[in-house]
Amino acid sequence: MAMASPTTDAAEALRAIAGEIAVCTECRLAQGRTNAVPGEGAPDADVMFIGEGPGYYEDQQGRPFVGAAGKFLDELLASIGWARKDVYITNTVKCRPPDNRDPQNDELDTCESLYLRRQLELVNPTLLVTLGRFSLTRLFPRQSISRARGQLLYKDGLAVYPIYHPAAALHQQRLRDVIVDDFKNLPTALETARRRLTGTVADQQAAYSADDSGQNDSGGEQPSLF
Ligand code: URA
Repeated sequence: MAMASPTTDAAEALRAIAGEIAVCTECRLAQGRTNAVPGEGAPDADVMFIGEGPGYYEDQQGRPFVGAAGKFLDELLASIGWARKDVYITNTVKCRPPDNRDPQNDELDTCESLYLRRQLELVNPTLLVTLGRFSLTRLFPRQSISRARGQLLYKDGLAVYPIYHPAAALHQQRLRDVIVDDFKNLPTALETARRRLTGTVADQQAAYSADDSGQNDSGGEQPSLF
């Protein structure tokens, strides 16, 4: 009998989570959704992107980043020779907040503990790219996106590379230039993270001891993700 590979197992488990998300009624966002948006991509991706939450087009299609911000994200990925199928893309909340308002803390907490944390464990990426402030502050509650963007941060052995949200850059050329630059540095950030996390014991110790170093000013607050 053929043995299932770890990738097949992860793909199956991710599909099961998507099934749970599709019928989730654990928070008020369920009431307004057309479709839940669990996320998509390679189950064994090296890089996982976490955005904020679905917008109008994502809610209509049940897929992440398919509107204007998504088109820009596709361009950014293409600019470094990557494609959606090579990475995993999801959001902090899986249902569209009404009128695109900010997700609220209880919605973020619920979606993270029920779904996002399990998706992260299954994909187990080498590098987590946070898009915008909501996913960044899940990990680093008092970090600001303008300070953290483009830096490789570590938390509990997880490598995190914060970037501005692509939607923020749609109408601001200055932010657009910053995001384009931060994407250019993404392959190097991935290599650095890979060396730190899978390299020698000394490398790994460096990654763990870099945890919270200066860049994370969580000041005693419990980070939520991991
Ligand atoms: N913005 C997000 O944060 N996520 C999406 O899926 C689309 C737009």
